[in-house]
Amino acid sequence: MKELVFVFLLVIEASSKSNCTLWKLGCDCPRDHKFIMCSHLNLTQLPSRVPPSTELLDLSGNLIIILPKNIFSTNRKLRVLLMQDNNISVIEDNSFSQLEFLQKLDLSRNWISSLTKGFSIGLAFLKELQLSHNKLSSLDSNSFFYLEGLQKLNLTNNSIQSIQVRSFFTLSSLRQLHLKDNKLTSLRSGTFSMLRSLEVLNLAGNQISKMETVVFSPLTSMTLLNLTNNCLSTVSFKTFLSIHTYSTHILLQGNPWNCDCELHRVFQKLHSIQRLFLDDYSNLTCMEPPVLRNHLLMDVDSELCIAETVTVLIITITVAITVLAAMLMGERKKKKKKRRNGMQWTQQGDISDESDF
Ligand SMILES: *[C@@H]1O[C@H](CO)[C@@H](O)[C@H](O)[C@H]1NC(C)=O
Ligand SMILES: *[C@@H]1O[C@H](CO)[C@@H](O)[C@H](O)[C@H]1NC(C)=O
Ligand SMILES: *[C@@H]1O[C@H](CO)[C@@H](O)[C@H](O)[C@H]1NC(C)=O
Ligand SMILES: *[C@@H]1O[C@H](CO)[C@@H](O)[C@H](O)[C@H]1NC(C)=O
Ligand SMILES: *[C@@H]1O[C@H](CO)[C@@H](O)[C@H](O)[C@H]1NC(C)=O
Ligand SMILES: *[C@@H]1O[C@H](CO)[C@@H](O)[C@H](O)[C@H]1NC(C)=O
Ligand SMILES: *[C@@H]1O[C@H](CO)[C@@H](O)[C@H](O)[C@H]1NC(C)=O
Repeated sequence: MKELVFVFLLVIEASSKSNCTLWKLGCDCPRDHKFIMCSHLNLTQLPSRVPPSTELLDLSGNLIIILPKNIFSTNRKLRVLLMQDNNISVIEDNSFSQLEFLQKLDLSRNWISSLTKGFSIGLAFLKELQLSHNKLSSLDSNSFFYLEGLQKLNLTNNSIQSIQVRSFFTLSSLRQLHLKDNKLTSLRSGTFSMLRSLEVLNLAGNQISKMETVVFSPLTSMTLLNLTNNCLSTVSFKTFLSIHTYSTHILLQGNPWNCDCELHRVFQKLHSIQRLFLDDYSNLTCMEPPVLRNHLLMDVDSELCIAETVTVLIITITVAITVLAAMLMGERKKKKKKRRNGMQWTQQGDISDESDF
């Protein structure tokens, strides 16, 4: 009896394998075809005939170069598609258009340099898109056009220099945006304007030196803003004041701060805003002026306005002295005038006195 069951199982195993042709490529193709693993097999193209019942397909660590259009047309049940660590540089329009239930797409560590509008067609329910370690250099309004349900977008370690204002306009469900280790130099107002669900904004490891005043104000759900390792030498108070959230942690270490009185005042005011938490304030170091280089801002903080106070004092004293001197001079002139006038009067009097005679 036992042997019979065993043979029966073997037959089922064999028959199911026989209609999952992927095992021929070396894939792990279990009986129900739900989870198919084809990672690290040196595949140069996408396998055709992925069973329609597959929900997770792992193709990571292969040598795939192109994602042709409609390649997944029979795989409507796919929920997770892993293609990280391949050599993908071309994604044809409509590659994913039939994957209406796809929730996670991992394309990290490939050679993707642009995203067309056609790339995201059909991915309205995608929740997580991993695109770290690719070759993207700019983002525009087409890049993520149909990703209305996206919650997590990872663009870490690309070469992104510019983000057009409408790039994230459709991503109103987005909760995490990772732009770490890119080449951004400034942040323009409007860039994040539709991201009202965004909780985490990671901008660490860029070259940001300028941020327009209201750039963060639309981010009303933001709990973490990471600006570590950028090129900020100063910030404007208004930029952070305009963050209207319940509570936000802001990280600022690894920036070349110009420790002057102005910076001291900005941080003093920031500390007084209850909803903002400058978690790494004690680690901020000065780059300028040269005498303060590598000193902790916290250590020199109280002295930054002394020089200014002294200057103000000197100016005040100088002004006071000048005014005083002017007043004295004026007073003396008046007296002189009076005296001269008096003399004139007496002279005139003398004359009139004389004429009376
Ligand atoms: C594989 O074959 C079995 C039995 O022949 C059948 O029940 C099953 O539906 C087939 N699966 C696929 C994905 O074609
Ligand atoms: C893939 O190719 C590499 C290098 O040619 C080789 O070392 C490795 O064994 C191959 N892997 C498989 C699963 O064929
Ligand atoms: C991957 O593609 C890049 C350019 O697209 C090429 O330089 C590189 O040699 C390719 N790597 C492999 C392993 O084929
Ligand atoms: C984003 O990608 C980087 C690099 O691949 C990875 O280390 C990090 O864990 C990812 N972050 C998230 C939140 O997915
Ligand atoms: C980004 O990735 C490339 C290789 O993928 C690596 O050479 C570079 O050091 C990485 N940059 C950062 C800042 O991690
Ligand atoms: C902020 O970014 C830095 C640099 O990448 C990282 O070391 C740190 O863990 C991040 N902090 C948080 C709270 O995510
Ligand atoms: C400050 O820097 C020290 C030493 O580099 C590190 O251990 C600590 O975690 C940092 N604190 C914060 C809040 O990042």
